[in-house]
Formats: sequence, C-alpha cells, structure tokens
Amino acid sequence: MAIQISPITPTFGVKITGIDLKNDLDESTHKQLKALLSQYAVLVFPNQFLGPAELIQAGEIFGPLMPQQLQKYILPDFPLVGYNSTKDLPVKNGKLQVRGENYHTDHSNSVCPPKATALSAVKIPSSGGDTQFVDVRQSFDDLSPKLQEKIIYLRSLHVHESTRSPRTFTKLSEEDLAKIPNVTQPLVIRHPDSGRPALYLNTGRMEGIEGMNADEGFNLINSLYEHAIRNKYEYRHRWAEGDFVIWDNRSVMHQANADYNPEEFRYLYRIMLEGDALSAFLP
Ligand code: SIN
Repeated sequence: MAIQISPITPTFGVKITGIDLKNDLDESTHKQLKALLSQYAVLVFPNQFLGPAELIQAGEIFGPLMPQQLQKYILPDFPLVGYNSTKDLPVKNGKLQVRGENYHTDHSNSVCPPKATALSAVKIPSSGGDTQFVDVRQSFDDLSPKLQEKIIYLRSLHVHESTRSPRTFTKLSEEDLAKIPNVTQPLVIRHPDSGRPALYLNTGRMEGIEGMNADEGFNLINSLYEHAIRNKYEYRHRWAEGDFVIWDNRSVMHQANADYNPEEFRYLYRIMLEGDALSAFLP
C-alpha cells in the first residue's frame, strides 16, 4: 500500500497513513520520511500502537536517539524511552501540574538540543490533553524585514530555569545543575537541512538577550513569543490512542495542556533524537 500524505495546516504538519512503522521499511522510505520531517516539521502517524522497542525502531528512521534528561521517568528495560504519565504529576487546586506547559523547544539550554522529539500515545483522557505546535519558521518569515535584520544578529543565554520563567521546572540538585553548561543560542537559527530561518524561543529558559539590558531583552523575547504563538501558526493535536507523532524542535515550539480530568489516566512514551549545535541564520 502506498504512503498517503495529507497536509494538516497550510504551512506545516502532515498526516501519514498507509504505513506500518512496526515493519522494516526500506531506505527510500526512510529518506522520504526524513525529508517530510524537514519540510513539514510535524508528522502524525495514526493507528501505530508502538511499544517501547517499536518506538525506538521508528525513531531511528530519523536519526540516533539520545538519553532522556529526566532519568526518573524512563523505562528501566528501555532507558532511551521516557514517559509522560499523569500518575507522576502533582495536582494543585484541582489542576494537574503537567510538564511542558507554555510553548517551548526541548532542552534549548543544551549545547546540542534534541533535533526532534516523538510521542507514542498509550492512554488518552476522554477529553483534553492535546499537544499544540506553532510553526516558528512561518512566524519569522512574517516579521518585517527591519525586525528580521535586527534579530538575526542577536543571541540569548539559555539556562535551566530563567529568572522570569512563566513555568517551573523539575528542581535539580546543585550537583546536577553544575553539570549543565551556560549556553548562548542564536535568536534566529538556520535549519541544517532545509536552510530555512526560524525563531528560537523558550521563555522558560531564556535569560535575556546578549548586549541588551534585562528589561529590554525580556521585552523583545516576550514580543517575539506573543507573535509566534498566535493561532494562525498553530496546529493542535487531539490525541488518539495509537498515534505516533514526531516533531522537529528547530522548526516548531510545542506545549502540553493540563485541561483534562486529573482522575483520568494519560500516558505516552517519549523519545528524543540527537541534534547538533545550532547555527545562526546569518546572511
Ligand atoms: C512534552 O513532551 O513537552 C509534553 C507533551 C505532552 O505531553 O503533551
């Protein structure tokens, strides 16, 4: 059966059917899927029902996997596979404190952030718990040429948790924090495969802009962020059990939602793919 590819939004995201990722796929299919990820940034494969070993095999189509940062949420028999489970989440004022609320790109404070992240949906609540994506290539393209010209030369320090973070992160021990380097990242990156520019934003981790005073830097970050998260750049994925979704962290930001009944069980396997150091989009 031939692979069918249906666009999800006018600028990014495709649904891919007519393929079973549990099968051994040939090299030309691998090449096609990698090209689709580079172009469309979010690939949705319904009805895959991938267990941990199959998820590893599917992820490796796109490149080598990297370890999960939160080692307490990994599968002991498959240490490269993490999980997002409601059972680990605190509830505050009747609301689940989910990891990954507020749009972000994963581990932007790493020298080499993961190039992609993927989830395999095992158990999904009866309503809510969607994952949202925004296309940060398109939001860069839509900025005025004057603003583009200004921001392509700028860099930001990314830390474990910004002093102005809108969300809180898992607290790390002094020892683990000391292992995390301070990394500056370009405000606009060049995608290594497609060559497209993209805004590189993570308000939870960005500690201002180099060469600007704190307020000026955070104001610029916040205005770019507000621009980038507008509905016109969004795809909201309503999960169904069995979905496998992979996204390119250099082309989209994503966020989780805590809008479901905390009594219901939500459980997804999670993998990340190794990425390279990011390059600025310079002329
Ligand atoms: C994440 O990996 O950022 C969380 C996504 C989700 O659980 O919806």
